[in-house]
Amino acid sequence: MAIQRTFSIIKPDATKRNLTGAINAKIEAAGLRVVAQKRIRMTRDNAETFYGVHRERPFFGELVAFMISEPVVVQVLEGEDAIVKYREVMGATDPAEAADGTIRKEFALSKGENSVHGSDAPETAAEEIAYFFAGMEIVG
Ligand code: CMP
Repeated sequence: MAIQRTFSIIKPDATKRNLTGAINAKIEAAGLRVVAQKRIRMTRDNAETFYGVHRERPFFGELVAFMISEPVVVQVLEGEDAIVKYREVMGATDPAEAADGTIRKEFALSKGENSVHGSDAPETAAEEIAYFFAGMEIVG
């Protein structure tokens, strides 16, 4: 498997509880490298655009309100098979279903307040990275 990049968000429930370093430790322990990172406050427009595919879902309003409630840390992660590997490190969307040792099992509060986001495919990873980062901000 080639070296890949994926997009990650450390979400408001985690930044609020000072878990950025603990989550980065799990990311790095899995062999992924943080090649870009910044702490930002998402605007409503950012959140609605980023989660546009979920616009018709019943939880859309709640999701947008949550994502703009506190700062987030947006990241680019790099490594072998990074997209699938990060999804394994994150664990299932619902922390009640997440495997032991995963970020969501350890830190997530609920399906909505689930501490992290990771891209689900190479095309979405490229789009999500380009939405938040300029090329010169990513240093592999
Ligand atoms: P994420 O990977 O960031 O992408 C979509 C998000 O929607 C997901 O993580 C969850 O945080 C959120 N989500 C999914 N299902 C629910 C739900 N039933 N209630 C609230 N939020 C949800």
